[in-house]
Amino acid sequence: AFAESICASSIIVKRRRSMRYSRIVGTGGYLPEKVLTNHDLERMVDTSDEWIRSRTGITQRHIAADHELASDLALHASRKAMEAAGIKAEEIDLIIVATTTPDMIFPSTACILQDKLGAGNCPAFDVQAVCSGFVYALATADMFIRAGRCRNALVVGSEVYSRILDWSDRSTCVLFGDGAGAVVLSQSDRPGILSSHLHADGKHSKILAVPGSICDGKVQGKPFLIMEGNTVFKFAVKVLEEVVHEALAENNLQASDIDWLIPHQANIRIIQSTAKKLGMPMEKVVVTVDKHGNTSAASIPLALDAAVRDGRIKSGQHVLMEGVGGGFTWGAVLLRW
Ligand code: COA
Repeated sequence: AFAESICASSIIVKRRRSMRYSRIVGTGGYLPEKVLTNHDLERMVDTSDEWIRSRTGITQRHIAADHELASDLALHASRKAMEAAGIKAEEIDLIIVATTTPDMIFPSTACILQDKLGAGNCPAFDVQAVCSGFVYALATADMFIRAGRCRNALVVGSEVYSRILDWSDRSTCVLFGDGAGAVVLSQSDRPGILSSHLHADGKHSKILAVPGSICDGKVQGKPFLIMEGNTVFKFAVKVLEEVVHEALAENNLQASDIDWLIPHQANIRIIQSTAKKLGMPMEKVVVTVDKHGNTSAASIPLALDAAVRDGRIKSGQHVLMEGVGGGFTWGAVLLRW
């Protein structure tokens, strides 16, 4: 009888463990007020609206005001996500901010955000995985929740790329924009996040980088974004196809089971290529790159927020998020809404 009761209780423990999932219970987004159109850029560098639209799908992007930092953008997006979730600052017990453009070298933008939110004494840290940052941060928060280490995580992607662009370099400055997106991820007894898949390969670190650093009070190297556009394009298309298939296979799902693809919004041609390889019509793909440009770690949560708020994403649907960025890093998160 003793052995039986041990067995029974271990089954209960297993069941309890297996019933612990994470779910997104609120989303929020914030875009700075100032809009920079392709026509504005025509007056700044030798480019054209036609070139930018045909190569990237971008028509405009938002630019942070001089006084706005990544933590300020993050604060706006977080408040909206927390309001949607019905969660107060003191109920947040983990903050992860994905950013490549932090307020300062340290403290982390997550700690600064925690203070601005009045969120109290919970773990807070930044994730640096460039445009895959939000996928990395969401996967990390999911693991904290499933391990029983927190109940309500605030996961944010926030970027002010306008600060790390060389505004005289037409091959890069037309591509990016500023913004922030946030989600509240809470413990739940039903999924939620079904699986997450993270990858990195540092061999490709030089094809997309901001290679500058600070030493002895001086900037060493180039503090602006540099990119081998064509190499990045080919690499992105290849690894995104691999990672979306990895996510589908792990969950025994077909591409046709996915209701919404929420890709990192780098370039409409990369997005279309992934959709085509999945055999997915563009009607099932959430696209914001036309209006936001590439907002790096903010792009996926901004696109998610748009599709949640306009009612496209409905309860029970399968949502697949995927991203790729400098490092190189890439990953996907598959969830049931
Ligand atoms: N306006 C006009 N012409 C431009 C331009 C601009 N903004 N930027 C580059 N050009 C020119 C180039 O100088 C080149 O001219 P040349 O043929 O006289 O040398 C020409 O356009 C073609 O350049 P190329 O780089 O071959 O264009 P492309 O078709 O590969 O498109 C990108 C360039 C950047 C749009 C494309 O490579 C891309 O999207 N790459 C991925 C970028 C990305 O998503 N990065 C983030 C990943 S997270």
